[in-house]
Amino acid sequence: MTSQAIGIDIGGTGIKGAVVDLDSGELLSPRIKIPTPDGGRPRDILTTTRRLLTDIEPSVSDRIEALGVCFPAVVKNGHTLSAANVSDEWIGLPAEALFEEELGRGIRFTNDADAAGYAEVHYGAARGVKGLVILTTLGTGIGSALLYDGTLIPNAELGHLQMDGTDAEKLASYGAKAKEDLDWDQWAKRLQKYYSMLEFLFSPDLFVVGGGVSKNARDFLPLLSLKTPIIPAVHLNNAGIIGAASLAAPLNSA
Ligand code: BGC
Repeated sequence: MTSQAIGIDIGGTGIKGAVVDLDSGELLSPRIKIPTPDGGRPRDILTTTRRLLTDIEPSVSDRIEALGVCFPAVVKNGHTLSAANVSDEWIGLPAEALFEEELGRGIRFTNDADAAGYAEVHYGAARGVKGLVILTTLGTGIGSALLYDGTLIPNAELGHLQMDGTDAEKLASYGAKAKEDLDWDQWAKRLQKYYSMLEFLFSPDLFVVGGGVSKNARDFLPLLSLKTPIIPAVHLNNAGIIGAASLAAPLNSA
């Protein structure tokens, strides 16, 4: 039988999820997306997640026990320690235990970019790459994942490195491009500065660029001049779902 898990990706604007085939990393059910409730408070997000699960589960015949949830925050020992584009009530919350109790199953809570990195290393652009891979997600903010020889080093918050006296994500995220109406050239200048800084600090072997805008990689990646290869992610906006599901799988085999 194919091993399966459900992955749910909670973001500031939408909560999306699907059943994932853990052998191939493919989605086994249609991806369902529900808007994030206004304010992004824990109770409201929990209610939406329950609704999402009821929508996802009828698409597969057996109840799937393994559930992974990824979230835009530092996640340590099941606690969300920060909050990006969601309510501050998440800060310090035992989110994993709360969701487990309310949803009645074992859950693995992870940072969203870490989940995306895990997906790309197992089923995507960084598969089989030796040394240090840095995956960045260019969305409303900048998420990051460090993977060394395929092993995830969790909770790198490289979107918050300082650039020109502010958080790099405020200048170089896709959110900044949209907000300031930057064209590809203008945005690429900021990305150049950002990735040069990462290159200087970490000497990575590969950069993988994720987030929805990675589907437009041809418009901006060729404008960058770096020593490190830089390539788009394979799973685009599904990477969080796939990674969250695969990180949850060991719960079942344990
Ligand atoms: C948060 C990260 C998150 C990233 C992408 C950042 O603002 O600090 O934890 O991974 O946004 O959602």
